[in-house]
Amino acid sequence: MTETATSTHTDSVQHLVPLLDRLTLEQKAALVQGADFWTTVPLPEIGLRAMTLSDGPAGVRGPRWDEREPSLNLPSGSALAASWDVDLAYRYGAAAASEARRKGVDVVLGPTINLHRSPLGGRHFECFSEDPELTAELAAAYVRGLQDNDVAACPKHYVANDSETDRFTVDVRVDERALRENYLAPFERAVDAGAWTIMSAYNAVDGVTMTENDLLETPLNSEWGFDGVVISDWTAVRSLDSVPAAQDLAMPGPAPAWADLVAAIRDGRLNEADLDRKVLRVLLLAQRVGALGEREPREPAPLDGPAFAREAAIEGTVLLRNEGVLPLDASSLGRVAVIGQNAREARTQGGGSATVIPESVVSPLDAIRAAVPGADVGFEIGAVVQEGVAEIPLAHLTNPATGEAGIRVAFFDADGTELFAENRRSTALVWFGGDAPIAASATVVFETLYTPAETGDIELGFAGANPGKLYVDGQLVLDDSPVIEGTDLGAAFLNPPSITATVAVEAGRETAVRVEFSRESHGALSGALSATLGIAPERTDADELIARAVAEAAASDLAIVVVGTNSKVESEGYDRTSLDLPGRQDDLVRAVAATGTPTVVVVNAGSPVVLPWAEDVAAVVQGYFGGQEFGHAIADVLTGAAEPGGRLPTTWPAALADVPVTEVVPTDGRLEYREGLHIGYRAWLKADAVPAFAFGHGLGYTTWSWGAAQRTGDTVEVTLANTGHRRGKQVVQVYAERPESAVERPERWLVGFATVHAAPGETVTATIPVPARRLAHWAGEWTVESGAYTLRAGASVADLPLSLEWRIAS
Ligand code: BGC
Repeated sequence: MTETATSTHTDSVQHLVPLLDRLTLEQKAALVQGADFWTTVPLPEIGLRAMTLSDGPAGVRGPRWDEREPSLNLPSGSALAASWDVDLAYRYGAAAASEARRKGVDVVLGPTINLHRSPLGGRHFECFSEDPELTAELAAAYVRGLQDNDVAACPKHYVANDSETDRFTVDVRVDERALRENYLAPFERAVDAGAWTIMSAYNAVDGVTMTENDLLETPLNSEWGFDGVVISDWTAVRSLDSVPAAQDLAMPGPAPAWADLVAAIRDGRLNEADLDRKVLRVLLLAQRVGALGEREPREPAPLDGPAFAREAAIEGTVLLRNEGVLPLDASSLGRVAVIGQNAREARTQGGGSATVIPESVVSPLDAIRAAVPGADVGFEIGAVVQEGVAEIPLAHLTNPATGEAGIRVAFFDADGTELFAENRRSTALVWFGGDAPIAASATVVFETLYTPAETGDIELGFAGANPGKLYVDGQLVLDDSPVIEGTDLGAAFLNPPSITATVAVEAGRETAVRVEFSRESHGALSGALSATLGIAPERTDADELIARAVAEAAASDLAIVVVGTNSKVESEGYDRTSLDLPGRQDDLVRAVAATGTPTVVVVNAGSPVVLPWAEDVAAVVQGYFGGQEFGHAIADVLTGAAEPGGRLPTTWPAALADVPVTEVVPTDGRLEYREGLHIGYRAWLKADAVPAFAFGHGLGYTTWSWGAAQRTGDTVEVTLANTGHRRGKQVVQVYAERPESAVERPERWLVGFATVHAAPGETVTATIPVPARRLAHWAGEWTVESGAYTLRAGASVADLPLSLEWRIAS
């Protein structure tokens, strides 16, 4: 223990110094690196057990990626943000804590609080909003919800990881004001809420990779008083230069980049005090989550997971347009046409590390059928959305070894000796940590008996980043390697390319299917494997699919078309290049609407998509990636059993060409945030451009009259009355304007919000904290200009009936 280190320790770790003094240099070096993919190193001699870290953030996957250990699949980040409901975000965090405890997880790797700088960002679905204030408030609530239950939050990715292209190396150039006022602001609020950890990002900011960046010290430690652990994004620690930086825990571990840590301290290249500082923080985290010493962590309140997932999905469902058709009058519906692949195979979450495996998923089709029992509900796929293979449903599979539903997976070494085998209940498998001897295996074999429901040709194949051989009834039908596009192995791993062969099958006849994957080593991912056996979409002519849907719609009283994206569009590891719906979905909606049958469109996407036919349909509902209860939530909103609770957390463009910020591809390794402060609605206002749907927009089933807004101290009170016939929810939004500012400002910016509920005829008051800091700009420090500000309140950035003046004295 050196003098310098003790003197720089924050008060919160002083009591751990005696414990630190008992550790050898080797033990200390081990403690600041993972033991494996998801756990930290235990030291039983000091009463320290291993801590387990796990993705989320929309639920908790747990240390194994395994359908036999399912997780609650909550709505994705953009859906949570659409609720604008801080209390809901707190309960969402508490629900994650409950899942974490059930799965033995100490640190949930979330929330993801990078910004929707551009709708093209690949992880847009996982992030909350384009607005730092909305993101910050929800982030703080999520952190508290977790940590009040002794589970650590890990807000990520610090900082400026707002898109995915070249994400490991991109050097983001962002001016100081935009960095402070936009991108750092949510992290600041999360730290203020007490976050026990933060994840450092892959990218660089101003030329220095984040795990070595001074931003880890200032503002995080020195200004905000963070006393927690900076956990690296997986493999983001690149060299020993991150040791003197405020980078604390290298994951996964042992980290190759820190292999030389002990030697470097012994020979004086590195300072032991820097290591001690990290160790103390890791020990403090262990104490906080109940992994050090006697104290048992708190038991979260019991959770009805599906009920909460349904409520959260309803609160995040945005009614974008309604020409009077919603809520549906179920009693008047004789026949309903439900159309769209996503109606039957709902997409409940985006792709990548955020994936959790739900026990079951409620599709819109099933939920609508249940919600209108008196109606005859028909289904047509209408257009193919899926790209590549999707897993084969369990009901059609028999494990040849056990005779039970599922598949047998066996692992062989290079000599052909079977090392390990397991019985699985899914054909889309990922080993990313866990018990299977991936690194030692040369071949991994899937075997199952497939009993199809229908006779015909299917596109059978496999996906993965390894070559494979597919045998059907003993015949070799494929011997090939899927082609990996791009250089992001993580993306190829989590969302792998696929290849297929056309295979004739017979209804009810068992077909023996066997795939042999030859495992190729993929560097940092050599202990991991992703492999799927599956079926690609049928090759029916696209016009024919539309024609069938049109016939079904024409014969019905109502058409409900569920459109959406697929796993190749919204995922970690790459950005979008278009905002169009994949495949022929736009043609499909136009054709269905043209039948004259009232048409309701439900959008199943985590990010904005272009809806060129929006004016031609009776209603549009944005359902986001609504989690495992997505179908129920949609049916509840359509029938009026529930109020659509959501308001857009992000501006919705009419066309990609209108979007102010689309630059997500670095030039010569650099990505310049040229737009400065002006992202999202700020940029639309600056350009004087009108989107399809404004930030904050969302309709309900009742009407409101706005009363008055007044300010007392740090609080704005807004009164409003429900003038309709139903109970309703309103999100009261307060924005500031400062036209006479001496500095550049957004034309208008969100300073506070609150949700209210009111019965018909009831007047309610929304109480919204708006401290003066919300008016501040960054000028080397937070500075509130003196003089007049206008505060405006209403239902979206474009609908602000109330205003008041706020004078800041000089
Ligand atoms: C992602 C993180 C995630 C980590 C562990 C990374 O590739 O960027 O968000 O927590 O993997 O899965």
